[in-house]
Amino acid sequence: MTVAPEPPRGVRVRVPAKLNLSLAVGPRRRDGYHELATVFHAVSLYDYVSVRPADRTEVQVSGPYARQVPTDRTNLVVRAVEKLGELSEAPRDVSIRIEKNIPVAAGLAGGSADAAATLLACDTLFQYGIRPDRLDQIAAMLGSDVAFALHGGTAIGTGRGERLAPVLARGELHWVLAISEDGLSTPDVYAEFDRLEPDPDAPEVGPDLLQALRRMDAAKVAEALSNDLQDAAVALMPGLEQVLEAGEELGALAGVVSGSGPTVAFLVADAASAIDLSLGLAAQGVVADVQRVSGPVAGATTVPWR
Ligand code: C5P
Repeated sequence: MTVAPEPPRGVRVRVPAKLNLSLAVGPRRRDGYHELATVFHAVSLYDYVSVRPADRTEVQVSGPYARQVPTDRTNLVVRAVEKLGELSEAPRDVSIRIEKNIPVAAGLAGGSADAAATLLACDTLFQYGIRPDRLDQIAAMLGSDVAFALHGGTAIGTGRGERLAPVLARGELHWVLAISEDGLSTPDVYAEFDRLEPDPDAPEVGPDLLQALRRMDAAKVAEALSNDLQDAAVALMPGLEQVLEAGEELGALAGVVSGSGPTVAFLVADAASAIDLSLGLAAQGVVADVQRVSGPVAGATTVPWR
């Protein structure tokens, strides 16, 4: 006699933040989104999302960035549960616990990461057995960066960012993240981009970055970092100019605003340089928080329950 395995009581998922090593933005489409060509890169700054069955869906948040996180339907994790409910025959409610280490509205896709983690956690908890390509489709319905958070690694994103192709990138890159006190609204940054660039070119990923990643040549990756949203982010938060200058003066290979900002990602040569730069930035007091991370790392992954 075979005995079916007991469903788990709860499932805990670890999910990384993302950087954009390059972000080319094209014209606004009819649906309001912009056509993109980006290189996503998952880094070792993680949120943890735990789900267990409950009578009604609720969200609790702890951790250094808990304060800015909504616990109502505006949180993408609740929309992830609702979306799975719409698509399944027997909707299930869950209690969701988020340990929030990824700053909010920071250009690091923290909200998208939590939504991806919730999809994986619910699929595992209720043993839905959703096929990976279907999970990607559901992720894309929730937001442009959610599918990447499931996969992690380094990947080209096209469409509005949801169409992914893995990039060959062996080895490790070391980063220092300069995190601002205030966030930036992604729609506001795109609106500012439209104002600054009324007629952008069709977006593409340059060959130099891909070649540098294949060789994992940090100096060459540094030369190829780019972000079409950077000027818009700086226009809305002029202090970012000072942060970029400070990091480069303190020895970073290069700095780039991640996504719609305002986090600035500084690429450094090695782990020791990352310590020097993070101490230097903290001493200058130009940013609210500094994190040393490395990439690429895996996407959303189940970890032992606790
Ligand atoms: O997809 P997501 O919900 O993360 O996008 C947030 C907002 O960012 C969108 O409502 C849109 O204003 C802007 N956006 C865009 N083009 C993209 C991705 C996001 O204009 N490719």
